[in-house]
Amino acid sequence: MRSPQLSPDARRQAPGAIRRMFEAVAPRYDRMNRILSVGLDQGWRRAALRELDCAPGSRVLDLCCGTGDLALLLPRGVRPVGCDLTPAMLEIADAKAARRRVAFPGVAGDAMRLPFADDVFDAAVVGFGIRNLPDLERGLAEIRRVLSPGAKLVILEFSRPERRVVRLGHGAWLRLAVPGLARLAAAGGEPYDYLRDSILSFPDAGALARTLGGAGFGAVSYRHLALGTVAIHWGSRERRTASRGPAPPEDGNRATRAPEGTGAARSSVSRSAASSTA
Ligand SMILES: C[S@@+](CC[C@H](N)C(=O)[O-])C[C@H]1O[C@@H](n2cnc3c(N)ncnc32)[C@H](O)[C@@H]1O
Repeated sequence: MRSPQLSPDARRQAPGAIRRMFEAVAPRYDRMNRILSVGLDQGWRRAALRELDCAPGSRVLDLCCGTGDLALLLPRGVRPVGCDLTPAMLEIADAKAARRRVAFPGVAGDAMRLPFADDVFDAAVVGFGIRNLPDLERGLAEIRRVLSPGAKLVILEFSRPERRVVRLGHGAWLRLAVPGLARLAAAGGEPYDYLRDSILSFPDAGALARTLGGAGFGAVSYRHLALGTVAIHWGSRERRTASRGPAPPEDGNRATRAPEGTGAARSSVSRSAASSTA
C-alpha cells in the first residue's frame, strides 16, 4: 500500500491520513527504528522510563504507544495501558505482549479526545508520538485530564540540537540519509519524508518545556540525549484545578473490554489484555 505524503500542514487536518501512514509502516516499524537510530532507540526509551520511575501497581498510560516498545520495557508489576490511533500498530503490540506473557491492554483512540475517564492514571509516557498531534496544547490538556493530581508525564521525542555544527549534521542526516535508507529497506520513502518534516517543524526543547508549563504541568524539566537530537521532558500534573480538557465526543462507540479502572468506553476498538503475569 502506498502511504500518503504528509506535510506538517496536512497533518493538522488529516488524522485519517496519519493512521493510514502508520498502517502502511506498521509491519516494518520496529526494524526501521533500529536501523535509523543505529540501534540506540531502545536505550532512549529506557532512559525515558528511568525519569518516569513509577511504583509497582501504578497504572501508566502509554499514549501513541505504537507497537508497544516503550510500555514493554516497564518493570513487571507496573500496569501499562496503551492508546494509539492506529489499530495495525496495536495489533503488533498485542502480539509482542502475548509472546512475553505480559499484560498490555491497548485501546484504539485519538489523543485529541482520550477515551478514558478523568484522573485515572498514576503516570503517562509518550514516546515519539507527541510530534504527530495536530494540536499540541489540546493533547496535553487531554493527558492532564486523565492523570491523577501530582502524577508525572514523561515525553520522549526527537529534538533539534543546539550546537550549530551538530544541527547541520542532523539536518543532513534527516534530509538525505533517512529517506534514502528507508527506500533501501523497502519501507517506502513517504513516511520518512514525513518523519523529517515533522521533526524539523516541531518546537525545540525549550519551547516544548514552556508549553508543558502552560498546560498545567509543574516541575517541568528536560534533558537531551544523542547530541541533542532526542529530548526527554517531564512534569507533574499540578494539584490545583485547571480548565478542563475538551468535552468527550458523543459518538457512543463502546469498548468491548475496557482496561479495568480507566473508564475507557468511547474507543471504536478495544484491545484485550494479553495473558497476564504482570
Ligand atoms: C512514531 S510512532 C511511536 C510509537 C511508540 N511510542 C514508540 O516508542 O515507538 C507514533 C505513534 O503515534 C500514533 N498517533 C499519531 N497520532 C495520534 C493521535 N492523534 N492519537 C493517538 N495516537 C496517535 C501513531 O499511530 C503511531 O503509532
